[in-house]
Amino acid sequence: MLNGKKIILAVSGSIAAYKSALIIRLLIKAGASVKVIMTEASEDFITPLTLSTLSKNPVFKDFTKDDDSGEWNNHVELGLWADAIIVAPATANTIAKMVSGHADSLLLAVYLSARCSVFVAPAMDLDMYQHESTQENLKTLIERGNLIIQPESGELASGLIGEGRLTEPDHILEFLNKYFAEKASLYGLKLMVSAGPTHEPIDPVRFIGNHSSGKMGFALAEEAAKRGADVTLIAGPVSLETPHGVNRINVKTAQEMFDACTGNFDKQDIIIMAAAVADYAPIQIASEKVKKKAEDWNIELKKTKDVLAWIGENKKVNQKLIGFALETENEQANAVGKLERKNLDIIVLNSLKDEGAGFQHDSNKVTIIDRNNKVISFELKSKHEVAIDILDAIENY
Ligand code: CTP
Repeated sequence: MLNGKKIILAVSGSIAAYKSALIIRLLIKAGASVKVIMTEASEDFITPLTLSTLSKNPVFKDFTKDDDSGEWNNHVELGLWADAIIVAPATANTIAKMVSGHADSLLLAVYLSARCSVFVAPAMDLDMYQHESTQENLKTLIERGNLIIQPESGELASGLIGEGRLTEPDHILEFLNKYFAEKASLYGLKLMVSAGPTHEPIDPVRFIGNHSSGKMGFALAEEAAKRGADVTLIAGPVSLETPHGVNRINVKTAQEMFDACTGNFDKQDIIIMAAAVADYAPIQIASEKVKKKAEDWNIELKKTKDVLAWIGENKKVNQKLIGFALETENEQANAVGKLERKNLDIIVLNSLKDEGAGFQHDSNKVTIIDRNNKVISFELKSKHEVAIDILDAIENY
């Protein structure tokens, strides 16, 4: 859920500041971009160098930059950049100032400027934590929409035992993951995407294939995972990296694509068939490399199984099925025919006519048609943006 998220980790002056290094590592591992803001007091507990190295960004401390350039760190820009701010550790002092609206540190000014979700993980001695003013302040922060990540009980730096210990970094990550998952529009849904070409072997060294790059299907898988879906990606032979959090099954041939898709279709809520599955495959596959002898070589082909059509026939009422169409004439009418013939809910019509669209490109131009005859034509866009449009259409269907 944190993949691609922009997170500000705001560190205030507590012994628990050492845990901020671990929080950054976990955030980076989860695919987030991290910028760190430190208060002056926090530098007594951990160095900016450690946190900038781990976050792969300079650490922000003051309103002005350290380098004599006379430039300033724009607190408004930082506040607007973030998808989430985590104040961890949050001292009693910082919490009180967040409540009173003070802006005498970069951390507080960014907090006041931010429009994103703010998570506060308190860390202090047990009596400070229990103090009426701290409890009142935390209550106020909650009332104002901030999220408190409760401290743990245990031995504190003072030697006393009680509540006030900054919760462990993996709990903070769990908290964030759960929060973003619950906010995600496809959370709790299973979604399967097929992507890429298939290769139909002729002999051990040759195959029949096509120019599909797999980029459209991979972009769909990535966007669906970002929206919280449990994504299974059935990928033909492409050399693309698996999007974060996506469960990938590699296949080569149309038959393998059929087996993987039909074997997994039952548990899915949404099925998107973006793969360019070969329509025909050689009847005979030579066990040895075929030597060149005759002038002509005829290869007998047989029709492959149509995965999309099979799923269309077997799908349950609550499953949404989305197919792609690549047409060169009577585009819209042919696409609608395909939608009806294969029992689809939505068909995405690809244009091959526009420069920059279709196979091997990073961009695509599509028209989305649903079963209620709703037709939306889009401009040429990046495949990532097209994936957003397609998933929006599925969610609104
Ligand atoms: N498709 C599939 N299995 C196949 C062939 C196609 O699942 N064996 C799916 C593709 O993933 C795509 C859709 O069917 O979502 C459209 O494929 P296309 O080849 O354009 O359609 P066909 O129905 O085969 O019609 P034609 O080739 O005649 O245009």
